[in-house]
Amino acid sequence: MQEITRDVVIIGAGPAGLTAARRLTQAGKSVAVLEARDRVGGRTWSDTIDGAFFEIGGQWVSPDQTAISSLAQELGLELFDRYREGKAVYLAADGSRTEYDGDLPVGEEAHAEMEKLRKELNRLADEIDPAAPWDHPRAAEFDKISFEDWLGTISENEVARNTTAHFIAGGMLTKPSHTFSLLQALLMAASAGSFDNLLDEDFILDKRVVGGMQSVSLRMAEELGEDVFLNNPVRTLRWADAGPGQPAEVTAIADHVTVHARHAILAIPPNLYSRIQYEPALPRTQQIVHQHHSMGLVIKVHATYETPFWREQGLNGTGFGVGHIVQELYDNSNHGEDRGTLVGFVVDVTAEKMWALPEAERKETILRSIANYLGEEAMHPVAFYLSDWGAEEWTRGAYACSYDLGGLSRWGATQNLPVGPIYFASSDIQGIGYQHVDGAVRIGGDTAKRILDGEAAS
Ligand code: FDA
Repeated sequence: MQEITRDVVIIGAGPAGLTAARRLTQAGKSVAVLEARDRVGGRTWSDTIDGAFFEIGGQWVSPDQTAISSLAQELGLELFDRYREGKAVYLAADGSRTEYDGDLPVGEEAHAEMEKLRKELNRLADEIDPAAPWDHPRAAEFDKISFEDWLGTISENEVARNTTAHFIAGGMLTKPSHTFSLLQALLMAASAGSFDNLLDEDFILDKRVVGGMQSVSLRMAEELGEDVFLNNPVRTLRWADAGPGQPAEVTAIADHVTVHARHAILAIPPNLYSRIQYEPALPRTQQIVHQHHSMGLVIKVHATYETPFWREQGLNGTGFGVGHIVQELYDNSNHGEDRGTLVGFVVDVTAEKMWALPEAERKETILRSIANYLGEEAMHPVAFYLSDWGAEEWTRGAYACSYDLGGLSRWGATQNLPVGPIYFASSDIQGIGYQHVDGAVRIGGDTAKRILDGEAAS
């Protein structure tokens, strides 16, 4: 067991932890980053599977996500546009298929109702400060009603309600819309600038990093060199709340290294906080709050074909069909790739159903769903892979964490408060960029700044 002393120990080498470490070292502080896995990047991860390069985790960058785009630039990485020439395909609940551009072809009545819901969600999201949704005068009221029930108070049209729900439930929080509140939905919209931004795939799924999003973390880890310790899950965190004038102290005990430091940054998703043993135990509030954050569940489906055959049919590879097995589909061909790659999403209860199937049947069922959008050729990929984040011990779900009903207004204000020398930093407790790599980068940088400001003031 190696024993070292640093200014700050950072637990988790995802984009949040590595950004914090980078900012701290740039300011002259010494750090150690302890990472449970044998790689950096956390929920951003690329791999080559059966000869195909897949981004298994987070990948897209939207135009407002300036923290991640500037960081990528600083690290010498380039961004490229998602392919979007041609028409998209809409599958209605009855399975009927329409090629379209512009608005979703949901029918006139549903369209008018969706407009009503869209305007109301934009209006309310505009009133929400993503950094403090709990401060809204109606926060408790908005947090008491499920998103599904609230949609029912505005529209009786089922297609309009289900489609609108999808943009936040299936599309973002990856939980059924009856399991989270209107306030949580408004935070999701406000954190992305507006509900409109979540509706617009050309905005929210705008660009990708050449070489994959994990490259951002790999480049930062390269800079940090021997300060990153892989295969080192932190099991125990000993801490003391320093009295006035006393130096704070914390000891992180991982499998192969023990780090003594003045501060710790817990840069792991909130559903994993309770995996660490704290000595002494964390205060009552944190012990309670940490039980009310949970991950959603989504299968990210990757399929590579000899050619991007959909493009020859005048299609851009986008498919949208609420209630179908694959509810969203996109052209995810890599930068400079000659073959064609698609990415699809299977969410919440449907993901559970898919994992319950034998492997061959699961593959056949998912490919059949893609073929319903793009035709028979979709049944024959040269490489096929399903991202399985629910089975990953150091994540346990995807994409991110959200509160159960009532949790955000009740406890949100405490989620960013440090406990003695322990700071919390994750995309899942960030305002702008919530649940996104951009949010991870922002909160990582901000947490480093809080520590530096605190040290400068003492
Ligand atoms: P993250 O989870 O990335 O990193 C935490 C790290 O802590 C991990 O490396 C973990 O191993 C480590 N750890 C946990 N417990 C530990 C312990 N006890 N000791 C030591 N280490 C420990 N975002 C986006 O902007 N665009 C997108 O397109 C997508 N799409 C997307 C798809 C999928 C399938 C997923 C799973 C996620 C996304 N995301 C996304 C979300 C994005 O990936 C996510 O917001 C960031 O990776 C979060 O970064 P953090 O650093 O906060 O946590």
